[in-house]
Amino acid sequence: EKGGYDHFMLKEIYEQPNAIKDTYRGRLLANQGIIQMAGLEDNIEKFLHADRIMIVACGTSWHAGLVAEYVIEEFARIPVEVEYASEFRYRNPIINKNDVVIAISQSGETADTLAAIKLAKEKGAFVFGVCNVVGSSISRETNAGAYTHAGPEIGVASTKAFTTQITVLTMIALRLAKAKGTLSNSDFHRYLQELEVIPEKVAEALASTNEKAKEIATKFKNATNCLYLGRGYNFPVALEGALKLKEISYIHAEGYPAAEMKHGPIALIDEQMPVIVIAPKQGHYDKVVSNIQEIKSRSGKIIAVVTKGDTQVKGLADHVIEIPETSDALSPLITTIPLQLLSYHIAVLRGCNVDQPRNLAKSVTVE
Ligand code: M6R
Repeated sequence: EKGGYDHFMLKEIYEQPNAIKDTYRGRLLANQGIIQMAGLEDNIEKFLHADRIMIVACGTSWHAGLVAEYVIEEFARIPVEVEYASEFRYRNPIINKNDVVIAISQSGETADTLAAIKLAKEKGAFVFGVCNVVGSSISRETNAGAYTHAGPEIGVASTKAFTTQITVLTMIALRLAKAKGTLSNSDFHRYLQELEVIPEKVAEALASTNEKAKEIATKFKNATNCLYLGRGYNFPVALEGALKLKEISYIHAEGYPAAEMKHGPIALIDEQMPVIVIAPKQGHYDKVVSNIQEIKSRSGKIIAVVTKGDTQVKGLADHVIEIPETSDALSPLITTIPLQLLSYHIAVLRGCNVDQPRNLAKSVTVE
């Protein structure tokens, strides 16, 4: 049942190239310049006339929502707000008929997300679901939606659900951008082509980073704290990396936007503190490099995720993990991979129950 893997989590990490393909199959036709998802096509006017999009979710799905905020605003120029479903539902939020709410949930059963959807509907918003489990409560409660088609996710730590959610949300952003003319034709086509080859790049990242992640895991398995830093599209990836480590290895970890480090967490840095920095070449590379220098001058241990062929960060970091290059906006689909593997190997080395971490359930059906 685990397909030869020791754990469901590892199996699901390795399923990502195919899961992403399943997600975009029939929806992304790169050569024809088409993106089509029935649930979106049928309701596209609602999105195009939306004053704003609100995204509600919990946990890893909330992290996918943060990536979506960056992608939708950048590509389609529609204002996006992302909120924890549990906060949204209890704070008397301002929602009206011209708002589109996107609810993201792997299981489709998360109690807070379901309640947030009901509230948004009561206030007249149009609610669009991004779920993995077909026929789940959230998929039934939403007005329309798009499934991720990742296949069953058994490990409590979400992996392929995250990357397939990002895939769906990126396709939504691209489709809206096409309708609104907010991306140039050449950029639109380039992103379609790039998205189409993401599964191959994820496969390459899996093959090229696993051994390195294992080696780094042996060095840091006894850490008690860990910081994850990223900027822009990779800030949510830092949060997700930290969540993965916390939940399966029980090491305290925090994700931060790299620039926020000097507003507090920098005080934590000493020679005991591993800092995982996501530093791909695209994006705010130079800014991240200066953050790395700040960590180094305080003797922090730097583990950097860099683009293949990088030389500058290599000269500074204690450990580097190289990943294939893609554009900034799609990079979370790749940068996430080594962070999943790192958490997995650390948890295994610590003898933790990777698939069923203590105190956690696969779907949180109580608030
Ligand atoms: O099924 P959902 O996507 O609604 O679940 C949301 C969170 O409970 C979930 O992502 C949780 O944070 C995972 N254990 C993270 O790995």
